[in-house]
Amino acid sequence: MKHELIIVLDFGGQYNQLIARRVRETNVYCEVIHYDTPIEEIIAKNPKGIIFTGGPSVVFEEGAPLVGKEFFELGIPILGICYGTQIMGYVLDAEVSKAEHREYGKTDIELNTESLLFKGIEKETICWMSHTYYVSAPPAGFEIIGSTKTCPVAAMAHVEKKLYGVQFHPEVVHTPRGKDILKNFLYNICECSGDWIMSDFAKEQIEKIKEKIGDKKVLCALSGGVDSSVAAVLIHKAVGKQLTCIFVDHGLLRKDEGDEVETIFSREFDMNLIRVNCEDQFLDKLVGISDPETKRKIIGEEFIRVFEAEAKKIGVVDYLVQGTIYPDVIESGTKNAAVIKSHHNVGGLPDHVDFKEIIEPLRDLFKDEVREVGRAIGIPEFLVARQPFPGPGLAIRIIGDITKEKLDTLRDADFIFREEVQNAGIAAGLGQYFAVLTNIRSVGVMGDERTYSHTIALRSVDTSDFMTADWSRIPHEILAKVSNRIVNEVQNVNRIVYDITSKPPATIEWE
Ligand code: XMP
Repeated sequence: MKHELIIVLDFGGQYNQLIARRVRETNVYCEVIHYDTPIEEIIAKNPKGIIFTGGPSVVFEEGAPLVGKEFFELGIPILGICYGTQIMGYVLDAEVSKAEHREYGKTDIELNTESLLFKGIEKETICWMSHTYYVSAPPAGFEIIGSTKTCPVAAMAHVEKKLYGVQFHPEVVHTPRGKDILKNFLYNICECSGDWIMSDFAKEQIEKIKEKIGDKKVLCALSGGVDSSVAAVLIHKAVGKQLTCIFVDHGLLRKDEGDEVETIFSREFDMNLIRVNCEDQFLDKLVGISDPETKRKIIGEEFIRVFEAEAKKIGVVDYLVQGTIYPDVIESGTKNAAVIKSHHNVGGLPDHVDFKEIIEPLRDLFKDEVREVGRAIGIPEFLVARQPFPGPGLAIRIIGDITKEKLDTLRDADFIFREEVQNAGIAAGLGQYFAVLTNIRSVGVMGDERTYSHTIALRSVDTSDFMTADWSRIPHEILAKVSNRIVNEVQNVNRIVYDITSKPPATIEWE
């Protein structure tokens, strides 16, 4: 089925995928394409509208990405955002100037609410600005439909030609009515009807994958986490048993997790799943290792080695599936960021597996969109709603060296915590919650006996992006119950503490 299409023309701004996501949220399908895509190609796609994104360039500097004048004569509605608006201004011979100071942050804006773009929005509202240059006088035929104290043309429109520009960023949450503004553009100006839903994404991806893979072989490293699970099931729906999943069970998973993964994917979805049980191999490598980074490196390397060895048995494959999602793309794209922790995503790229190409069906999606796709293709809710779990698993939740006994203790304590959170009905509100085996033993008393046992820390955070987080205010009664159960039911634990640090300065995981 052919959907209404919006083109997001990419000029290199940092929020481009966020614009695409906002469009999808209003049930309109969109594609992000590079700004220098030939205009004929764009016309051939028959879009209902085009959005020019922001970008770091300056319109009148040499080599700045621009479009030709003909774009504005196509009769296709266009919305320029930030740099996109400056392009519209510059190409249509308006004045673009440099502001005295870079304008950054939340700004009061006054809108002309007669404009279709701002229909239903308050006259005075707030917008998010992040720019140094701006259109200082609109092009001929345009009217000013929004202004701020420092930005005379914060929004402009050529109603007849359906050309609109906003200097601010409607796509970010700091513009509280931004989503409605975008929706107005899509529905009132582009006249979209909203004929697209996430399950269509799943159907279309499955069709595309089917066509691409044909009768070839595909390999996937399945961890049981949300991303790799959704990616694997999508591929499985497309090509069935041509897909082989390798599930490396490194023995560092949560209680019963390995068996759950096997049951669901192997039995319920009838997928070709190879479970490699290599707990001993990993534990051997980790004996006596307490340094967090060394643990991560060992586990990452060992994981690749096991995966490669299994893949060799299968022989040459044509494609390798990865559950990369959009935030991973950004994260690995930041070249100058300091390494706080060397992240290991199960499914990381092996060096010695023969394959032709990588397939990343979720590359443009945000986490909650991936969950939606998962639901649409019938992955059970407990798996789709699963909280993030780090690739190195419980190894980085045991401070100090790792032993089988410590792992079992942590697994039991963590299970009780998670069970009580679920029973209390507060799980959906928490970003991530788990137990940590601190490297502390302390004195306690049980019955008339002195004990000298482990301290378990409970960690729970509220977060939307996992970059920053606050500790969760879990009601004391729930914490009390968890504490009681752990010291009673788990051997070798006599003390429970609750972690009350935010991120920063702490991180979510302890290692
Ligand atoms: P931190 O501890 O850095 O964690 O605040 C942020 C988020 O990342 C998860 N995490 C990982 N995920 N491989 C992963 O796939 C890793 O090596 C890894 N280390 C941390 C962590 O659980 C939290 O959600």
